[in-house]
Amino acid sequence: MTSPAPRSRRWLLRRGLSWLVLGAALYPVFRFLSFAVPKKPVRVKVDTDPGLRGFVMEPTFILFHRQGKTWAVSRRCTHLGCTLSYDEAIDQLVCPCHQSHFSTAGQRLAGPAKLSLKVYPVEAAANGGQGYIVTI
Ligand code: FES
Repeated sequence: MTSPAPRSRRWLLRRGLSWLVLGAALYPVFRFLSFAVPKKPVRVKVDTDPGLRGFVMEPTFILFHRQGKTWAVSRRCTHLGCTLSYDEAIDQLVCPCHQSHFSTAGQRLAGPAKLSLKVYPVEAAANGGQGYIVTI
């Protein structure tokens, strides 16, 4: 049985240099592939008056209006992305997929979801118009 040939310092330098060149060549490729275009904010106008119920259910968020305060909470569950529904009886957002529960402020209360919901900024419609503008 023969023992492996001893590696010289020159061999080590060549090997290190080749890894360095390979890394330098691939860096722009990895950087290009990992670049994500930031999502542009979308302004959604809500014309419906929350009225006595105190909320308006939209496809991507729920707008709450209570005691003079208005806020909007995402309907996308932070577990696996199912669309949440609002249960008026318990005043919570409930995920139909795995039963995560969230408060109307978006705080996670129970279930497999680990994160709270996104809360979107809300402003009154401009020029004294009726409704709200939600930036999602
Ligand atoms: S997707 Fe909502 S709890 Fe799993």
